[in-house]
Amino acid sequence: MHLATSYERIGGERVIRQLVDRFYDLMDQEPEYFGVRKLHPQDLTHSRQKLFMFLSGWTGGPSLYTEKYGEPRLRTRHMPFPIGSPERDQWLSCMYQAMLDIGLDDEVRKKLAMGFDQTADFMRNQPE
Ligand code: HEM
Repeated sequence: MHLATSYERIGGERVIRQLVDRFYDLMDQEPEYFGVRKLHPQDLTHSRQKLFMFLSGWTGGPSLYTEKYGEPRLRTRHMPFPIGSPERDQWLSCMYQAMLDIGLDDEVRKKLAMGFDQTADFMRNQPE
């Protein structure tokens, strides 16, 4: 799934970086996100960098992730992690909070949320 050129509307590289940083800071700090936090490595540096590169291309900006790692095949890449509805919902709540915290405008936020909802749901690989 690809979000037709929201990249500029979001605010480009600077704001996408800000979003990813806020997202992983929250995941790291808020106990309610511990369920997804514990699936990640202790050091989130690479997780931040990969999500940033992915979102750049996904929103219609430079295809940084694909250039470096090839096709995202996100569902396959998430298979090592048990993801059910609770993990999906935590990931999404964390992302919604990050989008609000950095002050994305409503229209951009709603559009992104639709893409995140669909993608996160697709990532589930557990019955519940
Ligand atoms: C549904 C709940 C999700 C969970 C629990 C989850 C969890 C994870 C974990 C544990 C990693 C590995 C981090 C690392 O290697 O440092 C990862 C990688 C990644 N995630 Fe997710 N994720 C979820 C949803 C999403 C969504 C919705 C997106 C995109 C919109 C996404 C994009 C990525 C990307 C691009 C990577 C790096 C893949 C790689 O190259 O290895 N994830 N995720």
